[in-house]
Amino acid sequence: MNAIRTRLILCLIGLCVATQALGGTFQWPFGTGPTEMTGESLYRSRCGGCHALDHNKYGPSHHDVFGRPAGTQPGYRYSAALAHSGVVWNETSLDRWLLDPRAMIPGTRMSVSVGDPAKRRMIIDFLKGRPTSDAN
Ligand code: HEC
Repeated sequence: MNAIRTRLILCLIGLCVATQALGGTFQWPFGTGPTEMTGESLYRSRCGGCHALDHNKYGPSHHDVFGRPAGTQPGYRYSAALAHSGVVWNETSLDRWLLDPRAMIPGTRMSVSVGDPAKRRMIIDFLKGRPTSDAN
């Protein structure tokens, strides 16, 4: 009877130690992780295929794009439609552009749009907050 009790107690101690050890090393997959959505992550996933902040790709560089007249990034060959649009990039024009570029400037080569207003705002805030060449 005593032997059984001793084994039971040892067993319980063992269990305790085991759960402690697990508790110490186990990490819940919650909290800040790579899935967190920011203006920057949206920019990279939705725009980064064609645009960069410091060089022309398929689309023009977004260096200093906020506050600049459309179609004026040096070294990029714009469509005539965008180059002669007379648009200046600010919150309002960028919002319209991202909603539907071809409706805003018919004849542009950019066809990608962002339907969700909250995501447009995050992307615009990101471009706005990155006006200089340290933006990359
Ligand atoms: C599939 C490629 C592609 C994607 C993705 C794309 N664009 Fe574009 N973008 C272009 C092209 C091409 C142009 C030039 C259009 C022209 O000359 O008519 C352009 C032009 C622009 C311009 C005008 C820049 C200037 O110098 O006047 C802005 C602003 C812009 N894009 C923002 C964005 C943003 C923000 C995103 C992400 C939500 C995005 N684009 C996603 C291809 C793309």
